[in-house]
Amino acid sequence: MVGGVYGVKGMNICVVGLGYVGLPLAVEFAKAGLKVFGYDINKRRIEDLKQGVDKTDQVSKEDLKNVDIHYTTSIEECKEANIFIIAVPTPVKKSKEPDLEPIRSAGRDIARVIKNGDVVILESTVYPGTTEEILGKEIEKHSGLKAKIDFKLAYSPERINPGDKKHTLKTITKVVGGQDKETAEFVKKLYSKIVDSVFVAKDIKTAEASKLLENVQRSVNIGLMNEMAVLFDKIGIDIWDVIEAASTKWNFLKFYPGLVGGHCIPVDPYYLIYKALEYDFYPHTVAASRIISDNMHIYLLNKIIRELNNYGKTLKGLRVLFLGATYKENIPDTRNSMALKLLDELKKWQANITVVDPYVKDFLNKIPEGTYDITILAVPHKEFMDKKEELIEKTTLFIVDVKNVLKTDKKRILRL
Ligand SMILES: NC(=O)c1ccc[n+]([C@@H]2O[C@H](COP(=O)([O-])OP(=O)(O)OC[C@H]3O[C@@H](n4cnc5c(N)ncnc54)[C@H](O)[C@@H]3O)[C@@H](O)[C@H]2O)c1
Repeated sequence: MVGGVYGVKGMNICVVGLGYVGLPLAVEFAKAGLKVFGYDINKRRIEDLKQGVDKTDQVSKEDLKNVDIHYTTSIEECKEANIFIIAVPTPVKKSKEPDLEPIRSAGRDIARVIKNGDVVILESTVYPGTTEEILGKEIEKHSGLKAKIDFKLAYSPERINPGDKKHTLKTITKVVGGQDKETAEFVKKLYSKIVDSVFVAKDIKTAEASKLLENVQRSVNIGLMNEMAVLFDKIGIDIWDVIEAASTKWNFLKFYPGLVGGHCIPVDPYYLIYKALEYDFYPHTVAASRIISDNMHIYLLNKIIRELNNYGKTLKGLRVLFLGATYKENIPDTRNSMALKLLDELKKWQANITVVDPYVKDFLNKIPEGTYDITILAVPHKEFMDKKEELIEKTTLFIVDVKNVLKTDKKRILRL
């Protein structure tokens, strides 16, 4: 019987990969009274967690201190686990093809300790088929056990939105898909211990595809708004004003142009494109959205240069206050940050840039005294939003308000 041999009391969980996704899961299961092992290959991360330090800032110090999790870099120390939840990274290679090595390697490690009756749940974002065809096969090959017979596979996509206090692990509906009905029900029961609602998808592939669809939909919608931003700019219309007007229609979907970074929207569509090519099908819309959005920092740079031209100035030597380096506000994550890409471009033009980001230790954590020619509010962290008036006062020429958050007529504002 799947997992059930251990009964509810005997559910021992091993979370494999303790990053943005894995750590909160481990903590919640531990809070729910389950025995939890936290396995990660990064020694530094494990040392930090043992000291009660979470550099991703996802779990409160108090929660970290109060839960009893056995953190380790040795999978052998997790052999008492009967449920393995994998939350390792799923990046793309330079060629934009999926890099599934972390999943394969997690599979090989689990194979060393997995037993009859155990359950393996993948949470990482993947293309349909990965759980059974890549992860399952890797475990089978290295353990000698058979998936669906000796151990069971399931998939449950993580849908957290870092920095979002409203939609949390507990309140977001958890989608699960199992190798068979019994497994799906078992996994539902498991997650019900820590989340308010669980949706059982038809099967694993459906659950895998649902996560990609969510992110591809966002990629396409934001890509469309970015494309319209560029077009309307050529015509001499401001996209933000157009969206405001169009939003008065009941069925207009409110998406905005933006510098889309992070590791979901810029990455996940490539997983789907890769899979589609196996079927001799090229998803043009999905690919186009990536191409447009991946170049928005260049468009913005051009816009800044054009605007400076109106003042008879260039970027060389210009005093620029650059605010925010992360991929989104109020979190310390700089992975695939478009703000950093914009910063790199500005450096090539030899601007005199002061970068402030209270969440990233490489930069100043406070806005310095003095004035600047232009201010670029790349990421509107709450610390900057509290200083709107100060930003307006200390900028002599104009402010680049990437996310259209300032809403002021006291200063010339350039929007994306
Ligand atoms: N961060 C998010 O907002 C988010 C949201 C939804 C889904 N996801 C998906 O969840 C997955 C994990 O993302 P993340 O942001 O938590 O990544 P992360 O980089 O923050 O954490 C991954 C952790 O896994 C560890 N790791 C890597 N390879 C390992 C291995 N073979 N064995 C054990 N540990 C290993 C790393 O050291 C790291 O600590 C990805 O597929 C991502 O696309 C992320």
